[in-house]
Amino acid sequence: MNTSRDRRGDHRAEPSGSAAAQASREPARPSERPLVRREGPLPGERLPLILEVAPNEDYALLDSGDGEKLEQYGPYRIVRPEGQAIWRKALPAQEWQRADAVFTGNTDEEGMGRWRFPKAPLGETWPMRHDGIDYLGRFTSFRHVGVFPEQASHWDHMEALIRAAGRPVKVLNLFGYTGLASLVAARAGAEVTHVDASKKAIGWARENQEMARLTGKPIRWICEDAMKFAEREERRGSRYDIILLDPPAYGRGPKGEVWQLFDDLPALVDICRSILTPKPLAVVLTAYSIRASFFAIHALMRDAFAGMGGRVESGELVIREKSAGRALSTSLFSRWVAG
Ligand SMILES: C[S@@+](CC[C@H](N)C(=O)[O-])C[C@H]1O[C@@H](n2cnc3c(N)ncnc32)[C@H](O)[C@@H]1O
Repeated sequence: MNTSRDRRGDHRAEPSGSAAAQASREPARPSERPLVRREGPLPGERLPLILEVAPNEDYALLDSGDGEKLEQYGPYRIVRPEGQAIWRKALPAQEWQRADAVFTGNTDEEGMGRWRFPKAPLGETWPMRHDGIDYLGRFTSFRHVGVFPEQASHWDHMEALIRAAGRPVKVLNLFGYTGLASLVAARAGAEVTHVDASKKAIGWARENQEMARLTGKPIRWICEDAMKFAEREERRGSRYDIILLDPPAYGRGPKGEVWQLFDDLPALVDICRSILTPKPLAVVLTAYSIRASFFAIHALMRDAFAGMGGRVESGELVIREKSAGRALSTSLFSRWVAG
C-alpha cells in the first residue's frame, strides 16, 4: 500500500528534491542506541480502524476524480492533483471551474509558481479555523496548504484524553509542522513541546499560536532533529504523557541529519516508549507516502509497547468526500493507548 496524503514524503517546508531520489543517495543515520526486544505481553489490538474526517464548515473535500481533488479550505476552493482519485468526478465542470487556486504540474521542487489563481491573485496566507482555533492556511511549495485536515481525527482523540485525564498532561509533538496539534493540545490544557526541523515551519507555527490567541499557553517551540531531541530527552530524563509523531518518509534535521523512516522509525518509537511518564496516555504514529501496510507499523508498535498493557489501534486516516461520499485515504496510523 502506498498512501499518498499529498506526497507528504516530500513534505519539508523548504523542499529540496524528490524524497525517493534523495533517499537512495543518503547513508542512514548511524545508530548509537542498541535496540533491545521489549519483554512482556503484547498490548491488546484493534484493527483495522478507519478514522474518518467528514466535511465540516472549516474544511471539506468537495469532490474528487480524474486524478484531482476539489477542497474547500475556509473561504477558498482549491484544486490539487490526487493520484489516488482514479474514479470519475461527481460534480459538474462548472463547480471545479469556480476554484480560487489550482496547483498544477508534478510536485518536484518548484515553489509558488505552481499555484494558479484563476479568479484573482491571492496572498500567501489566508484565515482558517479548526474547531474554533484560528490559524493561517498558506499556499506553500509542494502543493501543501499548511494543514493536513485528516489529522483532525487524532487531534480529537488526543483532546479527549487530555480533558479526561484530570491532571497536568505533557504532550510531545514530533515533526509538528505548522503546529495545529500543538495548539489543540495546549487549548485542552496540556503543556506542549513541539519539535520540527524546519525553521520556517516553526515560524509559521508560532504565527498560528498568535492567530489562535493561545500565546499564553505553555508551548515550547523547538527547531531540531526529532531523533536527536528524543535521544536527549531520554538522557535528561524528561517524560511525556502523550507523544505524537508524524514523520515523513525522508527528511533532514536542521544540521543535515538524515531521517529515513524505514531505518530510523524502530529506534524512534522505542525511545518514545522510554520517555513516557509512569502513567502515560498515548503514543500516536502516522505514516504516509511509504510502501507499507498499517500491519507493518502495527507490529512495530505492539512490539515496542510490550509489557505496557493498553492496546494498539491501527488503520488508515481517510477523508470522506462531500459529493459522492467516497473515502480518500491519506495515511496509515498506529497508536498505543493506555488501558
Ligand atoms: C508531514 S509534516 C507533519 C505534519 C503535522 N503532524 C501536522 O499534522 O500538521 C512533517 C514535518 O517533519 C519535519 N521534519 C522532516 N525531517 C525532520 C527531522 N529530521 N526532524 C524533525 N522534523 C523533521 C518537516 O519539516 C515537516 O514539518
